[in-house]
Amino acid sequence: MKRLYIETVGCQMNVLDSEMVVASLRKRGYELERDEASADVLLFNTCSVREQAENKTYSALGRLRSLKKANPDKIIGVMGCMAQKDQQLVFDRAPYVDLVVGPGQLSRIPDLIDQVAAGHGKQMAVSLGRKDAANEEVRRSHETFDPLRDPTMRPTPFQAYLRIQIGCDKFCTYCIVPSTRGPEQGRPPQQIYDEARILADQGCKEITLIGQTVNSYRYKSGESTTRLSDLLVNLSEIDGIKRLKFVTNYPKDMTNDLLAAVRDLPKVSPYLHVPAQSGSNTVLTRMKRGYSVEDYREMMARIYEMVPDAAVTSDFIVGFCGETEADFEATKQLVSDCRFKNSFIFKYSERPGTKGAELLADDIPFDVKHRRNNELLELQNRISEQENQKFLGQRVEVLVEGPSSRAVSRGEVEGDLVQLTGRTPCDRIVVFDGNRRLTGELVQLAIYECAPHTLFGAIVTEHVTPKLLPLGQGA
Ligand code: 5AD
Ligand code: SF4
Repeated sequence: MKRLYIETVGCQMNVLDSEMVVASLRKRGYELERDEASADVLLFNTCSVREQAENKTYSALGRLRSLKKANPDKIIGVMGCMAQKDQQLVFDRAPYVDLVVGPGQLSRIPDLIDQVAAGHGKQMAVSLGRKDAANEEVRRSHETFDPLRDPTMRPTPFQAYLRIQIGCDKFCTYCIVPSTRGPEQGRPPQQIYDEARILADQGCKEITLIGQTVNSYRYKSGESTTRLSDLLVNLSEIDGIKRLKFVTNYPKDMTNDLLAAVRDLPKVSPYLHVPAQSGSNTVLTRMKRGYSVEDYREMMARIYEMVPDAAVTSDFIVGFCGETEADFEATKQLVSDCRFKNSFIFKYSERPGTKGAELLADDIPFDVKHRRNNELLELQNRISEQENQKFLGQRVEVLVEGPSSRAVSRGEVEGDLVQLTGRTPCDRIVVFDGNRRLTGELVQLAIYECAPHTLFGAIVTEHVTPKLLPLGQGA
């Protein structure tokens, strides 16, 4: 038996990719190992979206230098977006790395590890450019690779990601993803459906469809085109699947057929992650986002009109090139008006290889980025708490995910009654006391307390009044 250590950072795509790499290596006799020092193979699934993520990976690799020196047979691999972006540079910066594999070549990892183990030296498999990332090999890699599922690698065995699209064609000027993950390609609907069935057979209850711009999904076959709304209809028919979610949405593609599907299909969660990135038209133009603030506001109005109970979340970048105080105020205004359930806020990080890095000066000082980040976060937290307060006294249904992080960190997971967490259809986290056997079940809760990012609830036990039947008629 060989032992595999794997560390994953970044987006849902990476979490899913790691699941599949683990599944493919299990087939070759690997077992997961939590301790770096005891592992035979150490893999790092990396992210390039911000510089900080890359720096963390390089320092994690730095810590392995002595380990590799003491045990030269250990195989160290770097996979994912940073592998695709840095290629040879990974070997230059961390010479004890044996393997560099881009996101389109992950299905080759088991063979490449064997090559290294057989003494054939360092191995690198990456796409040669965006065009190359659309080639047959990459497509086939996903066909053979994606259906390999490993429930033990998922956050919970009853929740899974399902890729419906790879790559991105939008080319926002700050973003490295179109060059690391290649052109947008929708997977064939039948493949998606078959994979969802596999997941349902494995006991999965909640599927989150993922794509960089998931609602841009289109699959043409002859005369017919399948859209995300069509997929949701088809996937809703699968028994065992109780909830369907999808991330990440692109504002321009938030069409009415999709909103109608969210409204009409009971299994589809009314949760929409639609990053705005900025509330200023000058900044949006410089980001090449392809919409104006007015377009975004119109989309929000349509969402709330068609799906009144929708929980919308957003991403924002603060301190993008040339962002003035007035631009930032416009972003704050948008956040105030849209009443997002929550927002992820990032300080702009210049990425070599993007149009932003090439054409625009990263001219906002770090302390200004930092202040804007905190201000926006504070504003959003106030709104998140106010939105959560609306749930006080309400009943919600949650999918129970298991013991809460507090219970885990305090070691309070023994015994039957523990503090559990679950998620509402609108993706709110609820903490409550219950039997740990409820993990993986849908449970009704009454909400009695809230914080900006958490609701607190109690299990609702229905009081059943036995029906009194006239004598002689009872079954
Ligand atoms: N700097 C900061 N944030 C970025 N994002 C993408 N690229 C950058 C960058 N260069 C953010 C966007 C995106 C989220 C996943 O990461 O907000 O929606
Ligand atoms: Fe990056 Fe823009 Fe594509 Fe999102 S839509 S992955 S931000 S280029």
